[in-house]
Amino acid sequence: MKLAIMGAMPEEIEPLLEFFGEYETVNYANNKYYVVNYKGNEIVIAYSKIGKVNSTITASTMIQKFACEKLLFSGVAGAVCDSLKVGDLVVATKLAQHDLDISAFGHPYGFVPEGAVYEEADVKLIDIAKDVAKEKSINLKDGIIVTGDQFVCDIERKNWIAKTFEASALEMEGASVAVTCNALNVPFFILRAISDAADMDASFSFDEFLKTSAKISADFVLTMVDKIIDAENK
Ligand code: ADE
Repeated sequence: MKLAIMGAMPEEIEPLLEFFGEYETVNYANNKYYVVNYKGNEIVIAYSKIGKVNSTITASTMIQKFACEKLLFSGVAGAVCDSLKVGDLVVATKLAQHDLDISAFGHPYGFVPEGAVYEEADVKLIDIAKDVAKEKSINLKDGIIVTGDQFVCDIERKNWIAKTFEASALEMEGASVAVTCNALNVPFFILRAISDAADMDASFSFDEFLKTSAKISADFVLTMVDKIIDAENK
């Protein structure tokens, strides 16, 4: 099997590279792709750089150039709902672009013609994550994750996003990866650990917790890899 694991920032994939230890580095399209051989499977790891455009390029490359058959995203997010605290893990059931706006033409926020407001994540991968969480007694939450090309550090914007999309968390890549994977028929899974509350303190909290939260997310994804491979070989 060929599996893609991506993040947006170096900190989000460093724990993965450390875990696997040995990898081949492929330079392509202004980015680096780290190819690991793991138990007879190929795992392609990359960080995309921040934002919807960069993450689209990376997800598309992993699928179209490296032929990855499933894609896992690991990283950090800002909490939208009050029950999510720094370090908590949230898996996306579905994703939307909160900054996609042609409401001037009467369309709902996040919608463009021939698209959909929400992109659904793969249910089988979410079930595997829930099994792992249960086995390891990890409190894994699920919910809607929304994406935009902006670091949200404003309570009014956050409240608008919460109300408009019923979102649990927000970040800057998930929904674009989701659109890419669904267009190319590749099952995907988006996991985030909370780094901040998308409020006026968000940039300080993000700087303080980026590394620790990124590792919480990466460690969880690593525990899923064997299960995904086993399910594939059944
Ligand atoms: N990723 C982590 N925290 C974020 C925030 N507050 N806004 C956008 N992306 C984020």
